Amino acid sequence: MQDVLPEGGAIRKLWVGEGAKYRDHMLRLDPASRQSRFGGGVSDDFIASYVDLSISLDAVVHGFFIGGLMRAAAELRPLGLRFPGQAEAAMSVEKSWQSHGVGSALLRRTLLAARNRGFRLLHMACLAENRRMQQLARKFDAELSFDFGNVVGEVESSRPTALSLMREMMADSHGFATAMLDLQTRMLRA
Ligand SMILES: CC(C)(COP(=O)(O)OP(=O)(O)OC[C@H]1O[C@@H](n2cnc3c(N)ncnc32)[C@H](O)[C@@H]1OP(=O)(O)O)[C@@H](O)C(=O)NCCC(=O)NCCS
Repeated sequence: MQDVLPEGGAIRKLWVGEGAKYRDHMLRLDPASRQSRFGGGVSDDFIASYVDLSISLDAVVHGFFIGGLMRAAAELRPLGLRFPGQAEAAMSVEKSWQSHGVGSALLRRTLLAARNRGFRLLHMACLAENRRMQQLARKFDAELSFDFGNVVGEVESSRPTALSLMREMMADSHGFATAMLDLQTRMLRA
């Protein structure tokens, strides 16, 4: 399925050395979005440490980039050896970019990445009153089952196939090409 994104925007994985872009995006979240993302109020220092940890834990982070800035992120983080086949997913979209289809596109990419890494269960910590996240999850009800009575939702993802692996590879190479083009355009303008 084709993603419908705001014009000029693209989704790609975060590259090594781009942690600061992820941190700056998180720091730009308005207070309500920050609260929804972390399940409560957190400080700027907490966010900086959180991002450092995510990067060091081999999380797969997809970013939505527009005008050279990362405006949204989806993170897939393995739960570790004690919970094989399980991961945690979390998403954040800056306020002015919410309700433009970015969250849907990011969740689609995250589910594909989870499937290709053999994760069968994804946990998403989501506040029970987070209606928008619930609406978003419902769009993927063939692949997801959420229990919004509880704070944690569980996501079933199916096994990888040659096609699902190919889809991720193609998305990665497209993301790389788009980023290079964007960089060239901005260098020419400077
Ligand atoms: C929740 C969040 C990730 C959704 O991202 P988004 O880019 O706004 O979502 P989309 O534009 O793809 O919309 C997804 C669905 O939400 C619903 N939706 C969109 N805007 C809405 C609004 N203002 N109110 C209620 N539902 C809304 C729609 O059903 C939409 O699907 P549709 O456009 O096909 O009808 C984003 O709003 C966000 O980052 N919020 C703050 C942090 C957070 O809550 N993170 C989740 C915890 S892990």
